[in-house]
Amino acid sequence: MAEMLVFETAEAGAQVVADHIAQAVRASSAFTLGVATGSSPLPVYAALARHAAGGADFSRVSAFALDEYVGLPAGHPQSYAEVVAREVTEPLGLDPALVRVPDGGAEGIETAGDRYEEALIEHGGVDLQLLGIGATGHLGFNEPGSSFASPTRVKTLTERTRQDNARFFDSVDDVPMHCVTQGLGTILRARHLVLLAFGEGKADAVAAAAEGPVTASMPGSAIQLHPRVTVVLDEAAASRL
Ligand code: GLP
Repeated sequence: MAEMLVFETAEAGAQVVADHIAQAVRASSAFTLGVATGSSPLPVYAALARHAAGGADFSRVSAFALDEYVGLPAGHPQSYAEVVAREVTEPLGLDPALVRVPDGGAEGIETAGDRYEEALIEHGGVDLQLLGIGATGHLGFNEPGSSFASPTRVKTLTERTRQDNARFFDSVDDVPMHCVTQGLGTILRARHLVLLAFGEGKADAVAAAAEGPVTASMPGSAIQLHPRVTVVLDEAAASRL
């Protein structure tokens, strides 16, 4: 059973998560953080940036991103490589050489998933994986139907997810059709999962993921198979539990 923490605001929950990460980094010589994109983890990164500004040293923290779009030109501001650099690497003072994002370049895309999976395993895995959850229940970009054993691989985005993410692009037509995403099997190997969800719009997905049947039609329900999960919510996101 996951540990469920409900806060009045996203910022209050994010602060607790960031304090926990900062403490774990202090206690470890080589901490590995799994980073998610999307809006949910942003207050955690902001709170970690405050720790960095206050003197916390994150320069030996390694990071692995969950996913990447396929085919955006290098340096595209909405590529997750750029988002992670902007929201995580720079404000936290991570060493860019220790931060990895799946390679979404069209060249060599057939092997991008395997290469990333191997790099993650060789590195020794992720200590704490931050996760958001999509309206479809997706984790990373593992849409409904994804196997709980899936490795990092190329996937097709659903129309709903492309619509949801269109807000970051000029139009929905500019949202890529494909992505490279850690699989649910990959995510489940992280040693601690921290799922963040804020706002009324996440309430159904949170209830289904945390308390509904464990089924591939709700990728978020994979968290119920993991021995160490913390779900961090605001009251709106917790309202259907
Ligand atoms: C994207 C990301 C997911 C993220 C989801 C939810 O699709 N690939 O990793 O969890 O969006 O985003 P938000 O946190 O903005 O609701």
